[in-house]
Amino acid sequence: MSPDLDALVAARSVRTFADRPVDRATVEQLVEVARRTGSARNRQPWRFVAVDDVATLRLLAGCGAYAGHLAGAPCAIVLLSADDGRRDTEFDLGRVAQSLTLAATAAGLGSCLATFYPEPQIARAAAALAVGPGWVPRHALSLGHPAPRPAGRSAVPGGRLPVPELLRWHLP
Ligand SMILES: Cc1cc2nc3c(=O)[nH]c(=O)nc-3n(C[C@H](O)[C@H](O)[C@H](O)COP(=O)(O)O)c2cc1C
Repeated sequence: MSPDLDALVAARSVRTFADRPVDRATVEQLVEVARRTGSARNRQPWRFVAVDDVATLRLLAGCGAYAGHLAGAPCAIVLLSADDGRRDTEFDLGRVAQSLTLAATAAGLGSCLATFYPEPQIARAAAALAVGPGWVPRHALSLGHPAPRPAGRSAVPGGRLPVPELLRWHLP
């Protein structure tokens, strides 16, 4: 498994999935990759809850305005953030989410993040997943075998800013 990094990063979010399960061993491999992600002071302020039952996936799909794709996924990994008020924590969670996303692509799976909000919906997700104190489910990653996208335009603009707009050299 050594896909080219450029191809990995170029993979777009997938929100439509084939009616085919993702085996649990594959999910565990994705976490095996992600757990090696670096974090500030090596705190590893993340935990994961894998969900592959339809009822819970449907409930989670209702926990964010744009989380609907979870309902059509055979599986999701919910990311738990340490509820420690540290600035670095959500940065670390972004890094580990990217690791999971790249690992999913490398494994031939499609994925898409979902954000749980507002706060009562985060509490609802936490209760449904029996999340213990000190941990907060703010995001989940839907996972599945990609299916063709339904026709229609996305409300979210696509594309990426070009390098000259993103980067400048400091001129001393
Ligand atoms: C922190 C974060 C939260 C996101 N939350 C959602 C979400 O709630 N629902 C959704 O459909 N996509 C979500 N996305 C996916 C973005 O919409 C997507 O990455 C972006 O539009 C770029 O599209 P692409 O990944 O297909 O290139 C999220 C992405 C990130 C990084």
